[in-house]
Amino acid sequence: MVVYQVYPRSFQDSNGDGIGDLAGITQRLEYLEWLGVDALWLNPTFPSADADWGYDVVDYYGVHPDLGTLDDLDELVAAAGRRGIRVLLDLVPGHTSLRHPWFRERPDRYVWADADDGPPNAWLSASAAPAWTRDDATGRWYQHTFRPEQPDLNWWSEEVRDEFDRILAFWFERGIAGFRIDAAARVVKSRDLAAAPVGPWSRPPPDLEQVHEVLRRWRRVADRYGDRLLLGQTWIEDTGGLGAFLGNGDELQLVQPFTLPVAQFYASVLHEVVAEVETSLGGRDAAVWQASSHDAIRFPTRWGACDERRTRAALVLLLGLRGTVVLYYGDELGMEQVHLPAAVARDHWGRDGCRTPMQWADCAGGGFTDAGVTAWLPCGDLQVNVEGQRGDPASTLALCRSLIALRRELPDLRDGAYRRLDAPPGVWACSRGDGVAVVANLSGAVVSLSGIEGIVRLATERTRAGEAVAGALRLEPWEAVVLAA
Ligand code: NOJ
Ligand code: CA
Repeated sequence: MVVYQVYPRSFQDSNGDGIGDLAGITQRLEYLEWLGVDALWLNPTFPSADADWGYDVVDYYGVHPDLGTLDDLDELVAAAGRRGIRVLLDLVPGHTSLRHPWFRERPDRYVWADADDGPPNAWLSASAAPAWTRDDATGRWYQHTFRPEQPDLNWWSEEVRDEFDRILAFWFERGIAGFRIDAAARVVKSRDLAAAPVGPWSRPPPDLEQVHEVLRRWRRVADRYGDRLLLGQTWIEDTGGLGAFLGNGDELQLVQPFTLPVAQFYASVLHEVVAEVETSLGGRDAAVWQASSHDAIRFPTRWGACDERRTRAALVLLLGLRGTVVLYYGDELGMEQVHLPAAVARDHWGRDGCRTPMQWADCAGGGFTDAGVTAWLPCGDLQVNVEGQRGDPASTLALCRSLIALRRELPDLRDGAYRRLDAPPGVWACSRGDGVAVVANLSGAVVSLSGIEGIVRLATERTRAGEAVAGALRLEPWEAVVLAA
């Protein structure tokens, strides 16, 4: 499956206010169908106080007014369905906004502690500050794994568990195909305030037994509705533990580690990362791979050093992985990280540069918004755009589209077992199932591999398509190919 991740504020503005919206996404479905993706994952669409742009929810049953209305969402889901595209929402169960009415009206739904001098313990939040803030109104401390504007929900409360059953059911009934679940692997925090913190930032430790209990509960709700998907963000310290989140087929269906967006672009490193995930899943086809994300520097900048050859090789590697691949909007164009001056930054954590408007055309507004309108974040280099690449068979967009089509055509490329192949240093080489091999030269030197056979089905260098390889394969720097028997 290929999932296309849309950051809704930045995809398409339909009403000229400079902010992308749901009706805008509906307008662009033709493009997404042409590209060939199976599903959309929308970053949070709920009303939010925007301290973390959607990840601080004030109402789990609604739509952010900047993005449109519930009707707009229904319309998007229906229109996408007509094109064979499923829609996943981004559920944020770990915390709400401080401005969620529950915080005052249902304080038991949050995690509180009493302490006189300073925070109740040494746990830290994602910004490496104490994971506790004193509430002026009550004098008590509330826990927050992320920002102080994002108080952690108390998942020991039956009321919270029941409420989320209702939230899931509400959206499933509206025809949502499933959820990407934010921070799924740590949704229930330890009750023991003396427990050792975890991870590089000493975050509040999860209670894993209870996490699994909650995942099973969500899965039971999902299964009531038939073919629904729970794709959990499982950003854990120990990749070996990933498989546990699948339970016995009764928890998440797909796990999303965060390994590629932080890995270096060396064949040996990437092989290690992929092998680790594959091993932990024990043969189950449940990995979700992505190279860019709304939390990381876009891969053409991070891996590609803004060199188109490197970006193209990376796309072959990525779309040659087993399981589910997420393309972050613009990845298919080789859209780069945008360097933004501090004066226009919107995100506390400095992630704006990967969240700039989709580059549709080289004109004022970039095809994202009307000419003369100030977009909520400035556009990047508009010379990289859909309009320019769509009709050009040599473009990165065309390569990406062909890779997606080839995944549909060759089941082995999609689901075939991954096995690392012998190759010179700097070369990514794996077989997929019995009939497919993916080879990418991630180095600046010409390389030769032996023992490789097949027909080149797709290559970064288009003229190589159709070439028969019998034994030896020579690749120019940053060249990549997919071979099939
Ligand atoms: C993980 C999300 O991917 C990130 O964007 C967000 O800031 C945190 N969770 C908090 O919800
Ligand atoms: Ca708008």
